[in-house]
Formats: sequence, structure tokens, C-alpha cells
Amino acid sequence: MIYPIVAYGDPVLKKRAEDIEKGTDLRELVDNMFETMYAAHGVGLAAPQIGKSMRLFIIDPEPMGDGLEDMKMAFVNPEMIEELGDEWAFEEGCLSIPDIRENVSRQEKIRIRYYDLDWNEHEAEYDGMAARVIQHEYDHIEGVLFTDYLSGFKKRLLKSRLGKISKGDISVDYRMKFPAAKR
Ligand code: NI
Repeated sequence: MIYPIVAYGDPVLKKRAEDIEKGTDLRELVDNMFETMYAAHGVGLAAPQIGKSMRLFIIDPEPMGDGLEDMKMAFVNPEMIEELGDEWAFEEGCLSIPDIRENVSRQEKIRIRYYDLDWNEHEAEYDGMAARVIQHEYDHIEGVLFTDYLSGFKKRLLKSRLGKISKGDISVDYRMKFPAAKR
């Protein structure tokens, strides 16, 4: 089942997502999230982006290149333990903010604790692009969007385009739900 992806401006994207009760069977939801993400050609998707305020996100950064194969994963109730190393900039995009890409600086390394779908706890380290994809998705469950990192000047430049996204006044080739759509 493919969910509509919630667009910029929806309050669910700005709120800290809620912890999931231990033992909850998330397999069907996660399968549907992967189906939704692949249909939109994304490399990551967080539960708030399908309107669910849950601390859950998925990634599959394979299209981003070498070393990112076999990283199809779900992170349940993740906690970022630390972020380390120098900041580096990369042009990020987001399925909730179509057609806008901007440079975001993030630290190069992370340590994260999370549960898998069998509710086994893991602690793992990632760096480079894998870390970045996880940082972007983790931000979603904290209610943070990549546009929040932009300068006031950049935000003012993007304001009308972001407003159009909220209204659905854009062309996008996957299903979306627009918070300010006219009926
Ligand atoms: Ni995103």
C-alpha cells in the first residue's frame, strides 16, 4: 500500500514523534513505507512523512552510490547518541519538499541506538553519506526539516516556493497530501 506523502507545512512534520510501544508489530507498516518510498524514488522516509507521529524511519541509500548497497534498514525508537567529526556540506532534498535542494552542513560521523523489527536493540556507527541519510531521517522524528538549517536570507528566498508546496501548487510524480490545498 502506497501512502500519500505529507507536504511541507503540515504540523505533523514539526513535532517530536512519539515513542512506539515495545513489541508492536511494525512489519506491515514498514513494508508499506518501503513501497511508498520506492514509488517516490526516495532514499529515506520517516513515519511523520506519512502522517504518523511515530519514532520510526526507513532508509535504502543504494542509489546514492558505492558502499551504500545492502543498507536497507528500519530504525525503531532510535536515539542519537553522538555526532562527531568535521561538518561537511551536501545538497539535500526531501520527499515532503519536492524540487527544492539546498546545502546542509552536518557532522561526518554518528553513533545511534535503535531497535530492529524484532525489537532487538542495536548500537551502531555510521559515517559519510550513510550517516547523512540517517541524520536527515532522524531529524524528521525530532520535528526538524532540512530547511530549518538555512539562513534567514535563503528562507526568505524560498518562502513563496514553500507556500506553493503546502498548497499543492506544484507538479510532482508521486502521491502527496497538501496541508493548505484548496478544496
Ligand atoms: Ni526528508
